[in-house]
Amino acid sequence: MLVQGKHYRTIWLKDGDDSIVQAIDQRLLPHRFVIEDLRSVAEVVRAINEMHVRGAGLIGAAAGYGMYLAAKEAAHTENFDEHLLQSVNRMKASRPTAVNLEWAVNRQLIAIGEGQNVVEKIAIAKETATRIADEDAGFCKSIGLYGVKLIEEISKRKAGEPVNILTHCNAGWLAFTDFGSATSPIYQAFDHGINVHVWVDETRPRNQGARLTAWELLNHGVPHTIIADNTGGHLMQTGKVDLVITGADRVTRNGDVANKIGTYLKALAAKDNNIPFYVAIPSSTIDWHIKNGLEEIPIEQRGEEEVKYIQGIVDKKITSVLLSPAQSPAANYAFDITPSRLITGLITERGICQATEAGLLGLFPEQLEDK
Ligand code: MRU
Repeated sequence: MLVQGKHYRTIWLKDGDDSIVQAIDQRLLPHRFVIEDLRSVAEVVRAINEMHVRGAGLIGAAAGYGMYLAAKEAAHTENFDEHLLQSVNRMKASRPTAVNLEWAVNRQLIAIGEGQNVVEKIAIAKETATRIADEDAGFCKSIGLYGVKLIEEISKRKAGEPVNILTHCNAGWLAFTDFGSATSPIYQAFDHGINVHVWVDETRPRNQGARLTAWELLNHGVPHTIIADNTGGHLMQTGKVDLVITGADRVTRNGDVANKIGTYLKALAAKDNNIPFYVAIPSSTIDWHIKNGLEEIPIEQRGEEEVKYIQGIVDKKITSVLLSPAQSPAANYAFDITPSRLITGLITERGICQATEAGLLGLFPEQLEDK
């Protein structure tokens, strides 16, 4: 997507030096646009864990590139396989909820295993990392092509009046390699001249909505308004929301969704007000092995400082400010589960389906056997 008129992805191999992975450091947005060099598995693990890179698709792509660096590092050790497995474990432990991480690492492990020697293994790892990143962008683009039809229909019904879409957190291009999942239909609609307006949940505690989604939409010229997280229910009750689209970090086989904390409350409010609630996901976010989101999806808990402090810019310096009594404890659950019954549909790269096992299998029949 465009940043001040120049096309960027969120992660790539450095032009002219393929031993370096480059990524946008999202901790500093929207105030500073900084590209970070990642030269080792340790640096990739840190970037994922400390959220320099974040969002399900991008975490998967980063893990794909991390495995390429892992293969390169393993080539300089006595036991390639043992070293690679150590990197696998470190990478998988870096964040627990988004299944794309595990998916990308496992995919790389299988691919690298096909190489006959170390040189071949490294070449395969590089190719696979690039493919994972390219596929992610392609999937998100397709999600946009299917999802835009939902917005088009509402626009027709409203005779061209703005379609008001509420989104939570950042399932935009910054959360993937390009386009985004929840935002992709919105960008498509906007680019085709449909009148859209986006309500952007600020998304405490890390404010991915206020910092990242707003920055993305601003760069693309899409009309939007940032709202405090508690505002969505009121807007829905007063007819100011036509459609909710969020992303997801993991979707179970039967359509339960793990997404950024607060998503469940928006789904409840949408249900109570008969507002369609869609979740946009590439298939890499579906965990085909589990069926019960509440019982089986690990919910990440992060440090209390993310709740007690807020980051902003003061005198041109990015600064953290204490909000609460320093001694009060805080809890920081990073995700929640929205049960499938509250979800109108899933928007995937193969089309839109019901948030049910039958719905998902209708689009992905190759998963029929995997229980
Ligand atoms: O903690 P993050 O920023 O990695 O959380 C992920 C998210 O941004 C959201 O939950 C998003 O809606 C799904 S990721 C495409």
